[in-house]
Amino acid sequence: MARLVLAMCALSSLLLTTSAQTCKNQTFTNNKVFTSCRDLPHLTSYLHWTYEESTGKLEMAFRHGGINATDRWVAWGINPNNNLNSAMVGAQALVAISQSGGAPRVYTSSIAGYSTQLAEGNISYANSGLTGTRQDSEITIYATLTLPNGTTTLVHLWQDGPLSASTPQPHSMATSNLQAKETLDLLSGSR
Ligand code: HEM
Repeated sequence: MARLVLAMCALSSLLLTTSAQTCKNQTFTNNKVFTSCRDLPHLTSYLHWTYEESTGKLEMAFRHGGINATDRWVAWGINPNNNLNSAMVGAQALVAISQSGGAPRVYTSSIAGYSTQLAEGNISYANSGLTGTRQDSEITIYATLTLPNGTTTLVHLWQDGPLSASTPQPHSMATSNLQAKETLDLLSGSR
């Protein structure tokens, strides 16, 4: 009997911790399913991914909620130098531009420095399937990237900011914006 109670406790705590993670309950309009997800610690953002270490294929979706303005950019990126201090510099980014609340235009941008305007350009990772959706205040970017051989952790970063016409303008410099970066273990899903 004691064992049964113990087992029930263990099970319910497992269920509780699982359901406490918002990303677990998120679904995708294109019915995509990913093996791992993470509630990111800032900016109402979530990362979903499936990673195949042997090929370096990272199939991912980045979702950013709370985008109430109709004109806004959101972005997700990797710092290829694993530099967590100035993660933005050198970041290889996926950018979504949503104007008038419409479906975002999604493209890649290699960020040279802090005065970037996120011009479209090639990134260092081979990529495919770059698309974006907007559902009310949530913008999602999808892509499959090929990471270098042996990659198991990433310094990744995410952000949102205003637009002037269709040109990205600097994001807020609030603490949560400046802290929107972390090291991610692609295999365990923890940071
Ligand atoms: C219009 C585009 C952008 C402009 C003008 C811009 C500008 C800046 C500036 C001036 C800083 C402060 C640097 C300092 O503390 O001295 C900063 C920090 C930061 N930005 Fe951006 N940014 C842009 C886009 C992005 C994007 C697309 C991302 C993420 C994908 C991002 C992520 C960060 C992060 C994480 C920081 C904290 C410092 C760091 O780790 O580098 N930014 N940005």
